Amino acid sequence: LNNGLARTPQMGWNSWNFFACNINETVIKETADALVSSGLADLGYIHVNIDDCWSNLKRDSKGQLVAHPETFPSGIKFLADYIHSKGLKLGIYSDAGVFTCQAYPGSLFHEVDDADIFASWGVDYLKYDNCFNLGIKPIERYPPMRDALNATGRSVFYSLCEWGVDDPALWAKEVGNSWRTTDDINDTWASMTTIADLNNKWASYAGPGGWNDPDMLEVGNGGMTYEEYRGHFSIWALMKAPLLIGCDVRNMTAETFEILSNKEVIAVNQDPLGVQGRKIQVNGVDDCQQVWSGPLSGDRMVVALWNRCSEPATIAASWDMIGLESTLSVSVRDLWQHKDVTDNASVSFEAQVDAHDCHMYILTPQTVSHSAV
Ligand code: DGJ
Repeated sequence: LNNGLARTPQMGWNSWNFFACNINETVIKETADALVSSGLADLGYIHVNIDDCWSNLKRDSKGQLVAHPETFPSGIKFLADYIHSKGLKLGIYSDAGVFTCQAYPGSLFHEVDDADIFASWGVDYLKYDNCFNLGIKPIERYPPMRDALNATGRSVFYSLCEWGVDDPALWAKEVGNSWRTTDDINDTWASMTTIADLNNKWASYAGPGGWNDPDMLEVGNGGMTYEEYRGHFSIWALMKAPLLIGCDVRNMTAETFEILSNKEVIAVNQDPLGVQGRKIQVNGVDDCQQVWSGPLSGDRMVVALWNRCSEPATIAASWDMIGLESTLSVSVRDLWQHKDVTDNASVSFEAQVDAHDCHMYILTPQTVSHSAV
């Protein structure tokens, strides 16, 4: 969507994956505090997004949405002011249907009123879900909220959560700043890998202003190993997915923080070229030895060697397969070891990758030195 936002994928936090409906204003404020004190905010995680269950069960007598009086007694404007005072942005959630998925009021046919009230509260981001949609096509239901937000004059990031049901990659570039391509993620290896593959299909439709959204991160929620979470974060970054943390950042382990705060991997995600990397080569049983790659600014390439097999494997990436000229000499940097592996690889390189682990590299072609005439 050409509203000046989402030049790179959005980064921040969302309440759903860890808290579901157990949210309140204290959790949101403490999360904002933790994003700042941990240093994650400085790394780019600036959106603090409240998901479903924030509102009262009914609109007020004037038909307006109101915050839940018990869990958000100070109201959303108060929270927005607090979040803004920390240099962060506040996101809220509604639904392009008559109810949200958890049966709170939806915004279908209330688009203008709701956009106006969100803007008046100082909301910076709207996630717009797809439950109770009366069977009306997404392409009919999502643009009215875009237009209503636009008419407020406030800059509001518009995140479509249509679950990929009507192939939003094909039409949402003019409607939203990102669009979910799949059903909900859960905190398992099977879910995460399946969703990565589904999102991969739409790679060519992503770019500055509008991104494919394979759903929020599960890193730190406990259902996967350290290696699996490293792969999850690597592949989401390479796919130019939104990096929305989904764990309790007030109580992160050192390992979780190490993954989420990897500056070199974040820089791949936020690269100004904005091209979604993809799965380019598979090998082994059930295609479990995988090479994912994509171009970065400055003629560089990102390469992930992702071992989805249950045994260690040697995975190779050749210049030919990733689209580099075969004669190039290339320097290779390992983004998890934070080390330069070599400064003159030629034709291909390979690494031994543990089961369910993922290595990630940036390849930089060496400038050709012309011999003196
Ligand atoms: C479905 C969405 O896909 C989830 O991300 C979450 O927002 C829930 N609805 C909330 O009910």
